[in-house]
Amino acid sequence: MLRDRRVLLIISGGIAAYKSLELIRRLRERGAVVRAIMTAAAHQFVTPLAVASLSENRVYTDLFSLTEESEMGHIRLSREADLVVVAPASADLMARMATGLAGDLAAAVLLASDKPVLLAPAMNAMMWAHPATQANLGTLERRGVMRVGPGAGDLACGEVGSGRMAEPHEIVAAIEGFFARAGRLKGRRALVTSGPTREPIDPVRYISNHSSGKQGHAIAGALAAAGAETILVSGPTVEPDPPGVRVIAVERAAEMLRSCDASLPVDVAVMAAAVADWRVEEVASQKLKKRKGEAPLLRLVENPDILASIARREHERPALVIGFAAETEDIVENARKKRVKKGCDWILANDVSPDAGTFGGEANRITLVDGEGVEEWPQMTKREVAQRLAERIAAALAPRRKPE
Ligand code: PMT
Repeated sequence: MLRDRRVLLIISGGIAAYKSLELIRRLRERGAVVRAIMTAAAHQFVTPLAVASLSENRVYTDLFSLTEESEMGHIRLSREADLVVVAPASADLMARMATGLAGDLAAAVLLASDKPVLLAPAMNAMMWAHPATQANLGTLERRGVMRVGPGAGDLACGEVGSGRMAEPHEIVAAIEGFFARAGRLKGRRALVTSGPTREPIDPVRYISNHSSGKQGHAIAGALAAAGAETILVSGPTVEPDPPGVRVIAVERAAEMLRSCDASLPVDVAVMAAAVADWRVEEVASQKLKKRKGEAPLLRLVENPDILASIARREHERPALVIGFAAETEDIVENARKKRVKKGCDWILANDVSPDAGTFGGEANRITLVDGEGVEEWPQMTKREVAQRLAERIAAALAPRRKPE
């Protein structure tokens, strides 16, 4: 049920726009309040009158309409929604969203919005597969934009392939799924670490690793989307800040530990950062000079173990402490040992051999080890891993029902 959920539906141009009428009908049937914005191109495929009749609300079309602005300014339009749904999402609108253009009402509202956004892309298969569209999609998804479809099949242009807008019932299911997840961690606090740490050698050089922060950032985003007040302590990364997450940027392991400690108490801590195990004992204050035939000797000392220190705290230990295990061999066995050694509740092991493409890649394959046993997850996108983990965390933290 979607009773009183406020959905702002943006209809962009494309033959699939006719399906948005059915979508509105289904949303209204479930009790959602639907406001619609149509792009100029959308008018070529469905009429504002049909959209207004089905949504039982006025339809907004023009960024520069005095009447529309005085009645409902475009900023308010974006703020007074629980979810923004773009269906169909054309290649053009996705490109404008990715670059931050705001030349019409639809794009301006999307740029001014701080609300979750769900895209239902629809376009020709070549347009969908084009590297430009895929890059735009990647940018949007990294910013936390959700997506349903597209599916494959016969396209309106006569070609066959991927690009068919998801069916209205699939979009409704995605919307219902979003609202079901949205409140599951409400009232909970979460701490996530992400990215690599950088341990300086001198003012220009450092020791680090290949972590991109994609997995950790996706987890922070999923926990925030599930309603948790989320703090993300991140090493250097180019990943955008996940929406609704407080991000603390750090460089060294020691800073990461300090920021994590300062963020407690939390209900759940997920340590996805690839913390450098060692740092240089004495960081040179000036750039080390090359001397002929003489390479500098760097003495390394061990960094603090952030996961172990949080898992073993006597005061303010989070109810659930989750670590990762980056392994290249004997994954399950090593993960089991790591869980015990570090004192955490769950370990998510992943293969970081170069062939696996886990560092910096979009996908991950997790083996979850907890006190009960081992759970193999199939290969998924890092975003899907994050969502599944957030659901498992919500289930674990949910208050147990007393037996009747
Ligand atoms: O960032 P991506 O490119 O998306 O890649 C994701 C990832 C591979 C980095 C991520 O999925 C992952 O495996 N993160 C943990 C990397 C790691 O340092 O693993 P480890 O097996 O060395 O450490 C085990 C656990 O102890 C980890 O939770 C780690 O955060 C923690 N640790 C390690 C050392 C240290 N000094 N302090 C720690 O807290």
